[in-house]
Amino acid sequence: MRILLIGDIVGKPGRQIVVQGLSAIREREAVDFVIANAENADGGSGLTASHYRALIDAGADCITLGDHIYRRFEIASVLESETRVVKPANFPEQAPGRPWTVVEARDGTPVCVFSLLGRVFMKPVDCPFQAANRVLSEVPADVKIRILDFHAEATSDMQVMGRHLDGRVSAVLGTHTHVTTADEQIFPGGTAFQCDVGMTGPHESILGRRIDRVLETTISFRPTHFHVAKGDVRLNGTLVDVDPTNGKAVAIRRLSVAMDEVDQMKQSSCSAEKNSS
Ligand SMILES: [Fe+2]
Ligand SMILES: [Fe+2]
Repeated sequence: MRILLIGDIVGKPGRQIVVQGLSAIREREAVDFVIANAENADGGSGLTASHYRALIDAGADCITLGDHIYRRFEIASVLESETRVVKPANFPEQAPGRPWTVVEARDGTPVCVFSLLGRVFMKPVDCPFQAANRVLSEVPADVKIRILDFHAEATSDMQVMGRHLDGRVSAVLGTHTHVTTADEQIFPGGTAFQCDVGMTGPHESILGRRIDRVLETTISFRPTHFHVAKGDVRLNGTLVDVDPTNGKAVAIRRLSVAMDEVDQMKQSSCSAEKNSS
């Protein structure tokens, strides 16, 4: 069972590469299940109901979010009614959304997805380590595949969580920093791990936003609007192969696909269709 976690989808460029490219990427990489972090999908922050639907229709099986989850609060009704999206499990019980979900892959294999927020340089939330224990005590034992999107700022937090859950989940994969780390590995207990799977959006940017605007405000303190950038759009994520009989990870690999590669994939699948008809 091959699982893809797509890193933070930023704004329209991020949504576009997912909508245009995900089905071709699923096919080329033989992906069975896709999780997408969409906390920045709407204009760089938050997620709307229509963008949620567009990402699901494009081939995402489940959506995770992060610290910007409620920036567009209309998403609350989606979080309360849909089963393919989760809130961070260390948010208050009263916060809209479910702390974990089980979604069936296309072959019927159940996959548990949950997310947690880190506490270092993030807004105050409940202990993510205890919240992870709570989630794992609730998930049915026959759901072997369990994927955590750990939305955290500090690599130390990420590593502690990876070791805390080694052997208890299939993967601990990071999001939030928007920068891919080169530390993908499988821990001794069979948990795939990576500090951050990277960003899906414009890479000619500062974390997805216009370089000139971020520079101006950071250096001069003059407020500007941090518009989403446009250049060098890439889909970044990580593929994890999991043995469905025991939930252990057997392989982990980074994936980075540029927009022109998406165009080439679509052209070659078009011409293959023409040739076969
Ligand atoms: Fe975030
Ligand atoms: Fe983000």
